[in-house]
Amino acid sequence: MAKKTANVELTAQGEARLMRTAEEMCERAYAPYSGFKVGAAILTDDGRVFTGCNVENGSYGCCICAERTAAVKAVSEGALKFRAAAVANAGGGLTYPCGICLQFMSEFAEDGFCIIMREKSGNIVSHPIDELLPRGFKLR
Ligand code: THU
Repeated sequence: MAKKTANVELTAQGEARLMRTAEEMCERAYAPYSGFKVGAAILTDDGRVFTGCNVENGSYGCCICAERTAAVKAVSEGALKFRAAAVANAGGGLTYPCGICLQFMSEFAEDGFCIIMREKSGNIVSHPIDELLPRGFKLR
């Protein structure tokens, strides 16, 4: 059954497409230090998809995760409502976003925003952000 929110309907087929986009983005990762290549794809409520990969730096503290790369691309293009984010690593299997990325994306999460990943078995799983970040920081 398709999950419907404001503007974008996310079918199982849509989830699979977003997941494949995240997987393809692993090829763009710049990860010479960790060797851990991550790809991400964020679907926004206007139907656009923004992609990202992790970009490392010799000054390790400057490294940026794939999810935040995609999120910054979305926001800087005026897409401020996130419907879903798919995350993958080049080796396959689940890649849960780190705490910083969850917090970062929660700022732009629509109701029902979920994180999509693929298990080693090939099965796609989807977690609402509230499950992964139950008490995220909100400035109010
Ligand atoms: N990384 C991500 O891209 N996303 C995450 O959610 C966690 C970690 C990257 C950062 C670094 O380049 C590499 O994975 C190893 O930590």
